[in-house]
Amino acid sequence: MTDEIVVVEGDGIGKEVVPAAVSVLDAVGDFEFVAAEAGDAVKERTGEALPQETYDVVADADATLFGAAGETAADVILPLRTAVDSFVNVRPAKAYPGVNALRPETDLVFLRENTEGVYSGHEDRLSADLSTLTRVVTTSASERLAEFACDYAPDGFQVAHKANVMRETDGRFRDAVVSVAEERGVETEEVLMDAFATRVCLDPTQFDVVVCPNLAGDVLSDLAAGLVGGLGLLPSANIGPDNALFEPVHGTAPDIAGEGVANPSATILSAAMLLEHLGYEDEGAAVREAVESTLAEGPRTADLGGDASTEAVTQAVIDRLD
Ligand code: NAI
Ligand code: MG
Repeated sequence: MTDEIVVVEGDGIGKEVVPAAVSVLDAVGDFEFVAAEAGDAVKERTGEALPQETYDVVADADATLFGAAGETAADVILPLRTAVDSFVNVRPAKAYPGVNALRPETDLVFLRENTEGVYSGHEDRLSADLSTLTRVVTTSASERLAEFACDYAPDGFQVAHKANVMRETDGRFRDAVVSVAEERGVETEEVLMDAFATRVCLDPTQFDVVVCPNLAGDVLSDLAAGLVGGLGLLPSANIGPDNALFEPVHGTAPDIAGEGVANPSATILSAAMLLEHLGYEDEGAAVREAVESTLAEGPRTADLGGDASTEAVTQAVIDRLD
Protein backbone atom coordinates (compact mmCIF):
# COMPACT_ATOMS: atom_id res chain seq x y z
CA MET A 1 0.00 0.00 0.00
CA THR A 2 1.20 3.46 -0.86
CA ASP A 3 1.43 5.93 1.99
CA GLU A 4 -0.57 9.08 1.58
CA ILE A 5 1.07 12.34 2.61
CA VAL A 6 -0.94 15.54 2.74
CA VAL A 7 1.01 18.55 1.51
CA VAL A 8 0.08 22.10 2.52
CA GLU A 9 2.50 24.60 1.00
CA GLY A 10 0.88 27.73 2.45
CA ASP A 11 2.31 31.14 1.54
CA GLY A 12 5.64 32.80 0.78
CA ILE A 13 8.64 30.48 0.81
CA GLY A 14 6.30 27.63 1.78
CA LYS A 15 5.63 27.45 -1.96
CA GLU A 16 9.35 26.93 -2.58
CA VAL A 17 10.64 24.81 0.30
CA VAL A 18 7.71 22.38 0.44
CA PRO A 19 8.00 21.31 -3.23
CA ALA A 20 11.74 20.89 -2.54
CA ALA A 21 11.03 18.51 0.33
CA VAL A 22 8.39 16.68 -1.70
CA SER A 23 10.93 15.99 -4.44
CA VAL A 24 13.27 14.55 -1.81
CA LEU A 25 10.46 12.32 -0.45
CA ASP A 26 9.73 11.27 -4.02
CA ALA A 27 13.36 10.23 -4.41
CA VAL A 28 13.32 7.87 -1.42
CA GLY A 29 9.87 6.31 -1.51
CA ASP A 30 6.62 5.62 -3.24
CA PHE A 31 4.20 8.13 -1.76
CA GLU A 32 0.92 9.55 -2.86
CA PHE A 33 0.85 13.29 -2.27
CA VAL A 34 -2.46 15.01 -1.62
CA ALA A 35 -2.33 18.79 -1.97
CA ALA A 36 -4.41 20.98 0.33
CA GLU A 37 -4.61 24.75 0.67
CA ALA A 38 -4.27 27.10 3.62
CA GLY A 39 -3.02 30.60 4.34
CA ASP A 40 -3.25 34.21 3.21
CA ALA A 41 -3.82 33.51 -0.48
CA VAL A 42 -6.77 31.18 0.15
CA LYS A 43 -8.24 33.68 2.60
CA GLU A 44 -8.05 36.41 0.00
CA ARG A 45 -9.84 34.21 -2.50
CA THR A 46 -12.40 32.48 -0.30
CA GLY A 47 -12.55 34.46 2.96
CA GLU A 48 -11.21 31.47 4.90
CA ALA A 49 -7.55 30.89 5.78
CA LEU A 50 -8.20 27.27 6.66
CA PRO A 51 -10.86 25.64 4.48
CA GLN A 52 -12.81 22.85 6.16
CA GLU A 53 -11.60 20.40 3.45
CA THR A 54 -8.00 21.09 4.45
CA TYR A 55 -8.73 20.60 8.14
CA ASP A 56 -10.52 17.33 7.39
CA VAL A 57 -7.87 15.91 5.07
CA VAL A 58 -5.10 16.74 7.58
CA ALA A 59 -7.13 15.23 10.45
CA ASP A 60 -7.51 12.01 8.40
CA ALA A 61 -3.98 11.74 7.06
CA ASP A 62 -1.22 9.68 8.64
CA ALA A 63 1.16 12.53 8.00
CA THR A 64 1.11 16.09 6.71
CA LEU A 65 3.93 18.28 5.48
CA PHE A 66 3.20 21.97 6.03
CA GLY A 67 5.20 25.01 4.88
CA ALA A 68 4.11 28.27 6.49
CA ALA A 69 1.25 30.73 6.46
CA GLY A 70 1.71 34.51 6.50
CA GLU A 71 -0.54 36.90 8.41
CA THR A 72 -3.03 34.08 8.92
CA ALA A 73 -0.46 31.80 10.60
CA ALA A 74 -2.33 31.64 13.92
CA ASP A 75 -5.63 30.86 12.12
CA VAL A 76 -3.97 28.06 10.17
CA ILE A 77 -1.33 26.34 12.23
CA LEU A 78 -3.03 26.33 15.63
CA PRO A 79 -6.17 24.54 14.31
CA LEU A 80 -4.03 22.20 12.17
CA ARG A 81 -2.06 21.19 15.25
CA THR A 82 -5.42 20.55 16.92
CA ALA A 83 -6.60 18.56 13.88
CA VAL A 84 -3.92 15.97 14.59
CA ASP A 85 -4.42 16.37 18.36
CA SER A 86 -0.71 17.04 18.59
CA PHE A 87 0.20 17.31 22.22
CA VAL A 88 3.92 17.71 21.59
CA ASN A 89 6.02 19.74 19.21
CA VAL A 90 9.44 18.16 18.74
CA ARG A 91 12.04 20.77 17.77
CA PRO A 92 15.63 19.62 17.33
CA ALA A 93 18.22 22.43 17.26
CA LYS A 94 21.54 21.13 16.00
CA ALA A 95 24.60 22.90 14.66
CA TYR A 96 26.06 21.31 11.51
CA PRO A 97 29.68 21.07 10.44
CA GLY A 98 30.34 23.62 7.71
CA VAL A 99 27.64 26.02 8.90
CA ASN A 100 28.78 29.15 10.63
CA ALA A 101 27.12 28.86 14.04
CA LEU A 102 27.42 31.02 17.13
CA ARG A 103 27.60 27.81 19.18
CA PRO A 104 28.81 24.96 16.94
CA GLU A 105 28.56 22.50 19.85
CA THR A 106 24.74 22.91 20.05
CA ASP A 107 22.75 19.68 19.80
CA LEU A 108 19.50 19.67 21.72
CA VAL A 109 15.84 18.89 21.29
CA PHE A 110 12.91 20.84 22.64
CA LEU A 111 9.74 18.95 23.52
CA ARG A 112 7.22 21.76 23.57
CA GLU A 113 3.73 21.44 25.04
CA ASN A 114 1.55 22.10 22.01
CA THR A 115 -2.06 22.54 23.11
CA GLU A 116 -2.35 25.00 25.96
CA GLY A 117 -0.46 27.56 28.04
CA VAL A 118 -0.87 31.12 26.79
CA TYR A 119 -1.68 29.91 23.24
CA SER A 120 -5.05 28.46 24.14
CA GLY A 121 -6.89 31.47 22.76
CA HIS A 122 -8.48 32.86 25.94
CA GLU A 123 -7.71 36.53 25.41
CA ASP A 124 -10.13 39.33 26.26
CA ARG A 125 -10.36 43.08 25.87
CA LEU A 126 -12.08 44.16 29.07
CA SER A 127 -11.93 47.92 28.61
CA ALA A 128 -10.20 50.65 26.62
CA ASP A 129 -7.27 50.23 28.99
CA LEU A 130 -7.27 46.56 29.91
CA SER A 131 -6.74 43.27 28.11
CA THR A 132 -6.27 39.92 29.80
CA LEU A 133 -5.10 36.46 28.87
CA THR A 134 -5.96 33.24 30.64
CA ARG A 135 -3.16 30.71 30.80
CA VAL A 136 -4.45 27.16 30.69
CA VAL A 137 -2.46 24.28 32.17
CA THR A 138 -3.93 20.84 32.75
CA THR A 139 -2.40 17.90 34.56
CA SER A 140 -3.56 15.60 31.77
CA ALA A 141 -1.78 17.50 28.95
CA SER A 142 1.35 17.87 31.08
CA GLU A 143 1.34 14.15 31.85
CA ARG A 144 0.83 13.22 28.21
CA LEU A 145 3.85 15.35 27.29
CA ALA A 146 5.85 13.75 30.11
CA GLU A 147 5.01 10.22 28.96
CA PHE A 148 6.25 11.14 25.47
CA ALA A 149 9.41 12.68 26.97
CA CYS A 150 10.12 9.50 28.97
CA ASP A 151 9.88 7.40 25.79
CA TYR A 152 11.92 9.91 23.80
CA ALA A 153 14.63 10.44 26.43
CA PRO A 154 14.77 7.42 28.75
CA ASP A 155 18.19 8.58 29.98
CA GLY A 156 16.66 11.75 31.38
CA PHE A 157 15.59 15.22 30.38
CA GLN A 158 15.43 18.79 31.63
CA VAL A 159 12.22 20.61 32.47
CA ALA A 160 12.17 24.37 31.82
CA HIS A 161 9.52 26.33 33.72
CA LYS A 162 8.93 29.37 35.87
CA ALA A 163 7.10 27.73 38.72
CA ASN A 164 8.77 30.05 41.22
CA VAL A 165 6.54 32.87 39.89
CA MET A 166 3.65 31.13 38.11
CA ARG A 167 3.20 28.80 41.05
CA GLU A 168 -0.22 27.49 40.12
CA THR A 169 0.15 26.99 36.35
CA ASP A 170 3.82 26.18 35.93
CA GLY A 171 3.72 24.54 39.34
CA ARG A 172 1.09 22.15 38.00
CA PHE A 173 3.10 21.61 34.81
CA ARG A 174 6.32 20.92 36.72
CA ASP A 175 4.69 18.64 39.30
CA ALA A 176 2.91 16.59 36.63
CA VAL A 177 6.00 16.17 34.44
CA VAL A 178 8.34 15.37 37.33
CA SER A 179 5.96 12.87 38.93
CA VAL A 180 5.43 10.95 35.66
CA ALA A 181 9.20 10.83 35.19
CA GLU A 182 9.68 9.58 38.77
CA GLU A 183 7.11 6.84 38.24
CA ARG A 184 8.86 5.82 35.04
CA GLY A 185 12.28 5.94 36.67
CA VAL A 186 13.50 8.69 34.33
CA GLU A 187 15.76 11.38 35.73
CA THR A 188 14.81 15.04 35.39
CA GLU A 189 16.59 18.28 36.07
CA GLU A 190 14.63 21.48 36.56
CA VAL A 191 15.76 24.78 35.09
CA LEU A 192 14.04 28.16 35.31
CA MET A 193 13.25 29.23 31.76
CA ASP A 194 14.91 32.63 31.99
CA ALA A 195 18.06 31.09 33.40
CA PHE A 196 17.88 28.53 30.60
CA ALA A 197 18.07 31.35 28.04
CA THR A 198 21.39 32.52 29.49
CA ARG A 199 22.82 29.09 30.12
CA VAL A 200 22.06 27.75 26.66
CA CYS A 201 23.87 30.73 25.08
CA LEU A 202 26.91 30.30 27.32
CA ASP A 203 27.13 26.53 27.06
CA PRO A 204 24.50 24.61 25.07
CA THR A 205 26.19 21.28 25.89
CA GLN A 206 24.52 21.47 29.32
CA PHE A 207 21.27 20.56 27.58
CA ASP A 208 20.08 17.58 25.67
CA VAL A 209 16.29 17.14 25.75
CA VAL A 210 14.32 20.06 27.19
CA VAL A 211 10.63 19.76 28.05
CA CYS A 212 8.86 23.11 28.18
CA PRO A 213 5.49 24.87 28.24
CA ASN A 214 4.11 26.17 24.95
CA LEU A 215 5.32 29.80 24.83
CA ALA A 216 8.70 28.97 26.40
CA GLY A 217 9.24 26.25 23.79
CA ASP A 218 8.37 28.64 20.98
CA VAL A 219 10.72 31.39 22.13
CA LEU A 220 13.59 29.24 23.39
CA SER A 221 13.71 27.12 20.22
CA ASP A 222 13.98 30.27 18.07
CA LEU A 223 16.77 31.38 20.38
CA ALA A 224 18.49 28.05 19.79
CA ALA A 225 18.01 28.58 16.03
CA GLY A 226 20.16 31.69 16.46
CA LEU A 227 22.87 29.59 18.09
CA VAL A 228 23.03 27.10 15.23
CA GLY A 229 23.00 29.45 12.25
CA GLY A 230 19.43 30.48 11.56
CA LEU A 231 15.81 29.52 11.11
CA GLY A 232 16.45 27.87 7.76
CA LEU A 233 17.84 24.84 9.62
CA LEU A 234 15.19 23.96 12.20
CA PRO A 235 12.61 21.26 11.48
CA SER A 236 9.72 20.31 13.73
CA ALA A 237 7.16 17.59 14.26
CA ASN A 238 3.71 18.02 15.79
CA ILE A 239 2.92 14.56 17.10
CA GLY A 240 -0.56 13.34 17.99
CA PRO A 241 -1.75 9.91 19.14
CA ASP A 242 -2.76 8.80 15.62
CA ASN A 243 -1.16 11.16 13.15
CA ALA A 244 1.30 14.00 12.86
CA LEU A 245 2.15 17.21 11.06
CA PHE A 246 5.67 18.23 10.09
CA GLU A 247 6.82 21.79 9.41
CA PRO A 248 9.89 23.99 9.43
CA VAL A 249 10.08 26.30 12.45
CA HIS A 250 10.39 29.36 10.19
CA GLY A 251 7.61 31.43 8.63
CA THR A 252 6.95 32.69 5.10
CA ALA A 253 10.09 34.87 4.91
CA PRO A 254 8.40 37.67 2.92
CA ASP A 255 11.79 39.40 2.50
CA ILE A 256 13.06 36.61 0.21
CA ALA A 257 9.85 34.90 -0.97
CA GLY A 258 9.50 34.40 -4.71
CA GLU A 259 13.23 34.64 -5.39
CA GLY A 260 13.94 30.90 -5.22
CA VAL A 261 16.71 31.40 -2.68
CA ALA A 262 15.12 30.08 0.52
CA ASN A 263 17.03 27.42 2.42
CA PRO A 264 15.09 24.16 2.01
CA SER A 265 17.05 22.35 4.78
CA ALA A 266 14.51 22.90 7.58
CA THR A 267 11.67 21.52 5.48
CA ILE A 268 13.71 18.61 4.10
CA LEU A 269 14.75 17.76 7.68
CA SER A 270 11.06 17.95 8.64
CA ALA A 271 10.40 15.44 5.84
CA ALA A 272 13.11 13.21 7.38
CA MET A 273 11.20 13.33 10.68
CA LEU A 274 8.03 12.46 8.74
CA LEU A 275 9.73 9.44 7.18
CA GLU A 276 10.87 8.20 10.58
CA HIS A 277 7.39 8.74 11.99
CA LEU A 278 5.90 6.60 9.20
CA GLY A 279 8.40 3.87 10.03
CA TYR A 280 10.91 4.57 7.25
CA GLU A 281 13.84 4.80 9.63
CA ASP A 282 16.53 4.09 7.01
CA GLU A 283 15.11 6.55 4.50
CA GLY A 284 14.76 9.22 7.19
CA ALA A 285 18.38 8.71 8.26
CA ALA A 286 19.55 8.80 4.62
CA VAL A 287 17.77 12.12 4.01
CA ARG A 288 19.22 13.62 7.17
CA GLU A 289 22.72 12.50 6.19
CA ALA A 290 22.29 13.90 2.68
CA VAL A 291 21.24 17.28 4.12
CA GLU A 292 24.16 17.22 6.56
CA SER A 293 26.73 16.48 3.90
CA THR A 294 25.24 19.15 1.62
CA LEU A 295 25.47 21.66 4.47
CA ALA A 296 29.07 20.63 5.04
CA GLU A 297 30.25 20.65 1.44
CA GLY A 298 27.79 22.98 -0.27
CA PRO A 299 26.10 24.26 -2.29
CA ARG A 300 24.57 26.62 0.28
CA THR A 301 21.84 29.24 0.17
CA ALA A 302 22.41 32.94 0.96
CA ASP A 303 21.33 32.69 4.62
CA LEU A 304 24.35 30.41 5.12
CA GLY A 305 26.69 32.65 3.14
CA GLY A 306 26.35 30.87 -0.20
CA ASP A 307 24.72 31.91 -3.47
CA ALA A 308 22.93 28.71 -4.49
CA SER A 309 19.23 28.52 -5.29
CA THR A 310 16.68 26.45 -3.38
CA GLU A 311 16.56 24.14 -6.39
CA ALA A 312 20.33 23.67 -6.59
CA VAL A 313 20.57 22.78 -2.90
CA THR A 314 17.63 20.38 -3.21
CA GLN A 315 19.20 18.69 -6.23
CA ALA A 316 22.48 18.36 -4.31
CA VAL A 317 20.61 16.61 -1.49
CA ILE A 318 18.88 14.25 -3.94
CA ASP A 319 22.20 13.49 -5.71
CA ARG A 320 23.70 12.47 -2.37
CA LEU A 321 20.89 9.99 -1.76
CA ASP A 322 22.05 7.67 -4.51
P1 NAI B 1 10.30 34.17 9.21
O1 NAI B 1 10.73 32.90 9.82
O2 NAI B 1 9.37 34.10 8.06
O3 NAI B 1 11.58 35.02 8.79
C1 NAI B 1 12.54 35.49 9.72
C2 NAI B 1 13.88 35.74 9.01
O4 NAI B 1 14.48 34.49 8.73
C3 NAI B 1 13.74 36.44 7.66
O5 NAI B 1 14.82 37.31 7.48
C4 NAI B 1 13.77 35.32 6.66
O6 NAI B 1 14.25 35.69 5.40
C5 NAI B 1 14.70 34.32 7.34
N1 NAI B 1 14.34 32.95 6.97
C6 NAI B 1 13.32 32.21 7.46
N2 NAI B 1 13.27 31.03 6.88
C7 NAI B 1 14.28 30.99 5.97
C8 NAI B 1 14.74 30.03 5.03
N3 NAI B 1 14.16 28.82 4.90
N4 NAI B 1 15.80 30.34 4.26
C9 NAI B 1 16.41 31.51 4.37
N5 NAI B 1 16.02 32.47 5.24
C10 NAI B 1 14.97 32.22 6.03
O7 NAI B 1 9.62 34.99 10.39
P2 NAI B 1 8.90 36.44 10.38
O8 NAI B 1 9.61 37.35 9.45
O9 NAI B 1 8.78 36.79 11.79
O10 NAI B 1 7.44 36.16 9.84
C11 NAI B 1 7.08 36.30 8.45
C12 NAI B 1 5.67 35.77 8.26
O11 NAI B 1 5.64 34.37 8.54
C13 NAI B 1 4.64 36.42 9.18
O12 NAI B 1 3.49 36.69 8.40
C14 NAI B 1 4.34 35.36 10.23
O13 NAI B 1 3.01 35.41 10.67
C15 NAI B 1 4.59 34.09 9.44
N6 NAI B 1 5.00 32.94 10.29
C16 NAI B 1 4.36 31.76 10.07
C17 NAI B 1 4.71 30.65 10.78
C18 NAI B 1 3.96 29.38 10.48
O14 NAI B 1 3.16 29.33 9.58
N7 NAI B 1 4.22 28.31 11.22
C19 NAI B 1 5.78 30.67 11.80
C20 NAI B 1 6.43 31.95 11.91
C21 NAI B 1 6.04 33.05 11.18
MG1 MG C 1 7.53 30.41 16.53
